[in-house]
Amino acid sequence: MNITVVGTGYVGLVTGAALADFGLNVSCVDSDVRKIETLSSGRVPFYETGLEELVNRNLRNRRLIFSTDLEAAVRASLAVFIAVATPDLPDGTPDLSQVDSVATALAECLDDYKVIVTKSTVPVGTARRIQGLLTGKQRRPVEFDVVSNPEFLREGSAVEDFMRPNRVVIGADSENAAAIVKDIYRPLFLNETPFVITSPETAELIKYACNAFLATKISFINEMANLCEKVGADVHHVARAMGLDKRIGPKFLHPGPGFGGSCFPKDLVALARTGRQLEAPQRLAEAVIEINRRQKERVFSRIERELGGLKGKKIGVLGLAFKPNTDDIREAPAIDICRKLLEAGALIQAYDPAAMPNSRKVLSGEEVVFCPDAYAAAGGMEALWIATEWNEFRNINLARIKSLMQAPVLFDSRNVFDPARVRALGFRYFGTGRPGSTPVRSPA
Ligand code: UDX
Ligand code: UDX
Repeated sequence: MNITVVGTGYVGLVTGAALADFGLNVSCVDSDVRKIETLSSGRVPFYETGLEELVNRNLRNRRLIFSTDLEAAVRASLAVFIAVATPDLPDGTPDLSQVDSVATALAECLDDYKVIVTKSTVPVGTARRIQGLLTGKQRRPVEFDVVSNPEFLREGSAVEDFMRPNRVVIGADSENAAAIVKDIYRPLFLNETPFVITSPETAELIKYACNAFLATKISFINEMANLCEKVGADVHHVARAMGLDKRIGPKFLHPGPGFGGSCFPKDLVALARTGRQLEAPQRLAEAVIEINRRQKERVFSRIERELGGLKGKKIGVLGLAFKPNTDDIREAPAIDICRKLLEAGALIQAYDPAAMPNSRKVLSGEEVVFCPDAYAAAGGMEALWIATEWNEFRNINLARIKSLMQAPVLFDSRNVFDPARVRALGFRYFGTGRPGSTPVRSPA
């Protein structure tokens, strides 16, 4: 089968390359000529584990091609995946202009029955909206179906997530269209991946429900961590015991400085807005947005409090990406908090294994220095803050770090280190939700 994937961002490129690997002939189309040139030469313009290899393998066997010619690609294809970006507008509503412009372009080149598949996370009702746009703008009436097939890819393990999904969700009004999309995922039948076949609206909502629920788990454990600090309890024991209850499960119960990334923050805002608009308020989602904002504030306030103010204070920062194994800094708590530290007059030396080129674009000025490694970032600093839990920080030589620092103060937002060990080395150590970080209080 021939298919087209429109948009070669994270989602589009993983989808296109993985479907080519499934044995389909895939044309990945993007309006950005330079991006297409880069990709055609086998280079992936962002960091994603295993993706460059996957792209190159499928370029070589010619099942994957990159092009700017939407019309030619679409004419040769039975299914067209839309994976363009849906960024937030200044008022927080998702900007569907890229989706709409692709739909309009598709209307002009439909020559034969096609299945149009939405892959981007889009507000509930978008499949229906595309259906309307296409029907209204067609040159001549050609039959087509619009299907919602949301992605559940995590950055850093997107290829693995695509190849071994927990489930595939297909939202279609027509049985024929659902069968075509199901056929595209045929290699997954072999490992008995469950398929959820439903309506487009339900599929669109499933994506928001999953992301909002995962974000809620994180916010729950973050608030629990804050309480643990007050009573001298250990949040990791709480999380482990909670996770052993099969009804709860162990995932996404790791406390930290708040969640970030291109999905959770944006999707929560979109879900909350849809709820308000349709008078089915999503109070939990609204609360999670607020809890996450405050979690970042707490990190900032703790650093400020423990250092006795921030003006002129020298702080080393380890990790800038919104999570490890990616160069992505969208909505990264590390970046948000660094901005606030800089505004308050702090001086920063930062190191991240992959995200420094992106960080340089948003954190600039003489007050911030990007360093070649963790030791350089700690050198001469009055505090070191672990903002993102890259594995390479776990095995760092803390005695050496201490000898390089002006004062041995460690803020470990991701609980990378063993508190007892770090304190034994002579550090003032502050973890998240672990005993010894703040004086214990009793509620009575
Ligand atoms: C995706 C999804 O689109 C978004 O909804 C989800 O929430 C997060 O992941 P992403 O793949 O990261 O976004 O977007 P981006 O990296 O910006 O890629 C979009 C691509 O589509 C760009 O390369 C852009 O040039 C291309 N594009 C956009 C087109 O080819 N045609 C257009 O008309 C518009
Ligand atoms: C997420 C979803 O997991 C994925 O299914 C969806 O399609 C896109 O959004 P992603 O944003 O790549 O993926 O990252 P994820 O691993 O989910 O982490 C999101 C954020 O939550 C990160 O900032 C991470 O540090 C934070 N997090 C995650 C925690 O603070 N604690 C946890 O226990 C888990």
